[in-house]
Amino acid sequence: MAVPVPPRPVIELTDVSKIYGTGDTMVRAVDGVGLVVQRGEYVAVMGASGSGKSTLMNIIGCVDMPTRGRYLLDGVDTRRLDEKRQALIRSRKIGFVFQSFNLIPRTTALSNVELPLAYAGIKPGERRRRAMEALDRVGLSDRAGHGPSQLSGGQAQRVAIARAIVTDPVLLLADEPTGALDSHSTAEVLGLFDALNAGGRTVVMITHEAEVATHARRTVRLCDGRIQADDRTGVAGAVTTG
Ligand SMILES: Nc1ncnc2c1ncn2[C@@H]1O[C@H](COP(=O)(O)OP(=O)(O)O)[C@@H](O)[C@H]1O
Ligand SMILES: [Mg+2]
Repeated sequence: MAVPVPPRPVIELTDVSKIYGTGDTMVRAVDGVGLVVQRGEYVAVMGASGSGKSTLMNIIGCVDMPTRGRYLLDGVDTRRLDEKRQALIRSRKIGFVFQSFNLIPRTTALSNVELPLAYAGIKPGERRRRAMEALDRVGLSDRAGHGPSQLSGGQAQRVAIARAIVTDPVLLLADEPTGALDSHSTAEVLGLFDALNAGGRTVVMITHEAEVATHARRTVRLCDGRIQADDRTGVAGAVTTG
């Protein structure tokens, strides 16, 4: 008989700080942040330029280590990991989406989506099948053979999202994913994030646009490296703090 396992948070930050420099030039980019994100949440991280969004994202993404505090990613204590293991946990547990798509030029959409599976050592046949499935999820199976330069911005970002979800990561981490898109593509991409979250995917998205943040069901506001507000919003946009 299976013993019930209590749900574990995807993200658990405890009193996390990131300090750059020393003395007069010391900057507390992230300053004593505590944040718990449960499976299935859709969180927007907002804040003015310099408020610590990227620094916090880099910590959550295991790209950078905090100076102080504890970070559990899907229950794994990231403090004890060397760089190699950090890279491993990053590729296993997180799908990244960037403002600038970061697709590899001069190769097909399909090859781009297959790449994380190649790194994970998945065999070519299985790789292709799963990459096609991910492209289908973002509505682009008919563009599998196109290169990034043959795609619109919105399509390129959807390929990048397919690449981010192809490994079935526990967390989808997006940094201004609509920052380079026109309003039509923005709506398309946000609709995709909505659908992925509705399917159970945990999403954390940096954005400085309030309009974009309305898609999330929770908004964390940063100011000078600290969490200034943490609001839960209903589907209708009603704020139900607590
Ligand atoms: N590598 C670094 N060295 C020194 N200071 C940094 C570094 N990265 C960020 N900072 C500082 O940390 C603060 C937060 O920066 P950042 O996380 O990039 O904010 P945001 O993404 O919200 O614009 C800023 O004052 C910034 O100048
Ligand atoms: Mg930034």
